[in-house]
Amino acid sequence: MSAIILDGKALAAELRERVGQQVAALTAANRRAPGLAVVLVGGDPASQVYVGMKAKMTVAVGMRSFERRLPEQTTEQELLSVVAELNADPQVDGILVQLPLPVAINADRVIEAIDPSKDVDGFHPINVGRLSAGLPALVPCTPRGCVMLAKRAGADLAGMHAVIVGRSNIVGKPMAQLLLQQNCTVTVAHSRTRNLPGLCQQADLLIAALGKPHFLGAAHVKPGAIVIDVGINRIATADGGTRLVGDVDFDAVVPIAGAITPVPGGVGPMTIACLLENTLTAYLRREGLPS
Ligand code: GUN
Repeated sequence: MSAIILDGKALAAELRERVGQQVAALTAANRRAPGLAVVLVGGDPASQVYVGMKAKMTVAVGMRSFERRLPEQTTEQELLSVVAELNADPQVDGILVQLPLPVAINADRVIEAIDPSKDVDGFHPINVGRLSAGLPALVPCTPRGCVMLAKRAGADLAGMHAVIVGRSNIVGKPMAQLLLQQNCTVTVAHSRTRNLPGLCQQADLLIAALGKPHFLGAAHVKPGAIVIDVGINRIATADGGTRLVGDVDFDAVVPIAGAITPVPGGVGPMTIACLLENTLTAYLRREGLPS
């Protein structure tokens, strides 16, 4: 048996299509288009690619894209001024400050400065708290995309034992909240977890979000499990080039799992599609329209 490959590219295209249709209906009714502002500080090559992709897809669904590229030497005060400007701009519904930020800037202070109603990353403590209390919130994009993909495996997630490997604020922790909402039994594992293979072997749903290439292999996967790979790691190849791989050793796990996301083409495309959906949600709430 070989696992079903969960096609994130196709699912993300469906989601963008739905968002695009809603935006088209709004502008056809003479409403302004939703606007997303993305702020990039410095020249990190991967971040440059992500930010460029976000801007392209924002425009493709009919939204307005505001891009602010700031030099590496930008001070925290300068960045906070840009955030304040975007908070006050009525054309901007969503603000995303690309992480990681240069070490001289305190990312927590920047995140806390973003208007929670525009926090399309769902990283502001208000949105973190609202999510954990089960209140309407802007929810982090990557875990949202993971849940959508897991549901595509044709499964009702209720009652499943979900093991999340990784406890970051961006993925692991919000993932736990979202899976609790799906009525999973949730375990969050991390670098200090004892007998990680044994624990992962108990997972009906295994989420790999630790950022280590090919870290989880055949020994970590129960036959038939749904495996969602959040990792995007660039590794060197024998011919002197590079390629992207996940946190899961895909080739080793594909004969064992029931369903698995590839890298690339799994979780990655879902993140941007969910960002656009969050921007639409932020717009609708800010305009007092049903979301
Ligand atoms: N860097 C890597 N992933 C993310 C994300 O989801 N949001 C932001 N703002 N930065 C990131």
